[in-house]
Amino acid sequence: MATLANRVALVTGASGDIGGGIARRLGAAGASVIVGYVGAVESAEATAADIQQTGGQATTVQLDQRDPDAIDNCLKQIRETHGRLDILVNNAAWNIGIPFPDLDALSPDIWDRVLETNLRAPFLLARTAASLLKADGGGHIVNISSAGGISPGSSSIAYSCSKAGLNHLTRCLAVAMAPEVQVNCIAPGLVEDTRMANRLPDAVAEGARRQAVLGKVGQVEDIAEQVHTFVTSESVSGQVIVIDGGMPGAMR
Ligand SMILES: NC(=O)c1ccc[n+]([C@@H]2O[C@H](COP(=O)([O-])OP(=O)(O)OC[C@H]3O[C@@H](n4cnc5c(N)ncnc54)[C@H](OP(=O)(O)O)[C@@H]3O)[C@@H](O)[C@H]2O)c1
Repeated sequence: MATLANRVALVTGASGDIGGGIARRLGAAGASVIVGYVGAVESAEATAADIQQTGGQATTVQLDQRDPDAIDNCLKQIRETHGRLDILVNNAAWNIGIPFPDLDALSPDIWDRVLETNLRAPFLLARTAASLLKADGGGHIVNISSAGGISPGSSSIAYSCSKAGLNHLTRCLAVAMAPEVQVNCIAPGLVEDTRMANRLPDAVAEGARRQAVLGKVGQVEDIAEQVHTFVTSESVSGQVIVIDGGMPGAMR
């Protein structure tokens, strides 16, 4: 039997590169996948269609997770349409490239948008989904943060801080939602062939590949496989695992 048969999974930002890979992996394992997006409806529908074409179940849901009311409505909708939720993957995020030394460019509005999307929303989603995730006693949350949340780097100070917060939110929720819900986190470094990675200057991407002790960085499939491992585990909670090809700076 498929490992996730009869499970329902919400993957936020599944119109994106990594979220799409996670949604497909969970769909292939038998989960009924709810593909989240904010604007890219065609991409979300393509992800859902891929899952359906291989015999899986998938629907799409539009959610601007900066809006707390939209989160409430989304979970209400899931309760009505699916009646349960076993897996929440907090994958959606927003970033903008602002070099760390350019402090003046990091305005309060940008700071708020990054923190609302990348940190407040995963908390609100977990809070709102808690009763559904706890109902069967075997719920899972997987947060997707970044190696930039461990070492000071990545697209901006706000992004780096939002992901550091998400790493710690993982540990706090693992305590708060036990024993019914396991909460874990993946902190990717550069992930090859993603639009987010392609927006990096060549020198930054090349530097990441060079520093990786394995001589290569992660792929979307590596992240998706780790999500599947977390959501099929029964004894792991509060953990942050880095997937970056083995970067000395992120070995803490
Ligand atoms: N790619 C990398 O190298 C890398 C490295 C480290 C960490 N990460 C993390 O991995 C995750 C996925 O990244 P990715 O590369 O797949 O990025 P991506 O392709 O840019 O996807 C981002 C996703 O987030 C969604 N999103 C943005 N703002 C939102 C909002 N307000 N409400 C709901 N959804 C929103 C987007 O929806 P729409 O498509 O509808 O706009 C999209 O689906 C993120 O958490 C990112 O920080 C990525």
